[in-house]
Amino acid sequence: MLAENTVEPRHLIQPIFVTEGSEPEPIASLPGISRTPLSQLAAKCAELQLLGIHGVALFPKVDPTRKTAEGAEALNPSNLALRAIREVKQKTPGTVIFADIALDPYTTHGHDGILNDEGTDVDNDRTVEALVKMALFTAQAGADFVAPSDMMDGRVKAIRHALDLANHTRTGILAYSAKYASAFYGPFRDAVGSARKPGAAPISKATYQMDPANRREAAREAILDTEEGADILMVKPAGTYLDIIRDLRESTSLPIAAYQVSGEYAQLHAAAEKGWLDLGATRDETLLAIRRAGADVILTYFAEAYARDFSAKK
Ligand code: PBG
Repeated sequence: MLAENTVEPRHLIQPIFVTEGSEPEPIASLPGISRTPLSQLAAKCAELQLLGIHGVALFPKVDPTRKTAEGAEALNPSNLALRAIREVKQKTPGTVIFADIALDPYTTHGHDGILNDEGTDVDNDRTVEALVKMALFTAQAGADFVAPSDMMDGRVKAIRHALDLANHTRTGILAYSAKYASAFYGPFRDAVGSARKPGAAPISKATYQMDPANRREAAREAILDTEEGADILMVKPAGTYLDIIRDLRESTSLPIAAYQVSGEYAQLHAAAEKGWLDLGATRDETLLAIRRAGADVILTYFAEAYARDFSAKK
């Protein structure tokens, strides 16, 4: 009766990895999660809707032969991500689609943008130009929200401007505002194939993602994204950044999203596999903590499993 917070399926967004293949492809570092074949995507979204989950975040697993240094495949009008959006919009129009805007699934080096001539850093402004085009294709395909996860400066403003000019005034922007340069993204990089290649230099995104030491910087990023036209602000990862979620909750009236990332999911599964932690109980506690910190919605790989248990309990 007096519980102050709840986690309901409607608070959850399921990230889905999409593949060209014809069979679901299990991801070893994300137990229970498989890449979903495009042909099974709409059925999966329909199933999630029945469980009370109305939002999905789509991530394509791009064929490595289609990757280039500049990620041109992101702007191929019939690429996997755009076909996935069209498929879901057409067959399960009630699903709210959050489409990722960043180049990492498409670049050979796995960075979120186009590198400078020296190859030492991402070129912010050239990347923003590419992201704007990507956002236009994405809105055109029917995404409800574009979700720039790249952390380039000024991209929210540029995307909002371009969407409005093209009459996509109703396409929202979920801004990854406080995205930290975290070591918890490993399994995700396995899932989309953006991890560092054997023999290549380790990939560090620290020049554009945030320093885990910083708290005030998150507030600054949030103000910028808000002024630039974001509709939802996101904090990522979630569990190690609950203070940031709380800060943003208290400083903005926009909805806050939190991304419980791949490594947060993997660590609970790994400990549970060893019999050291109770998977369901730790899962529920982490999700509740993220809601208590102030998140309205949570992107989590646990979404479907949580919703299944939730409806079984009712
Ligand atoms: C990249 C992106 C990443 C995640 C979502 N979008 C990884 C990265 O920055 O390399 C990570 C999500 C997760 O770990 O679950 N645009």
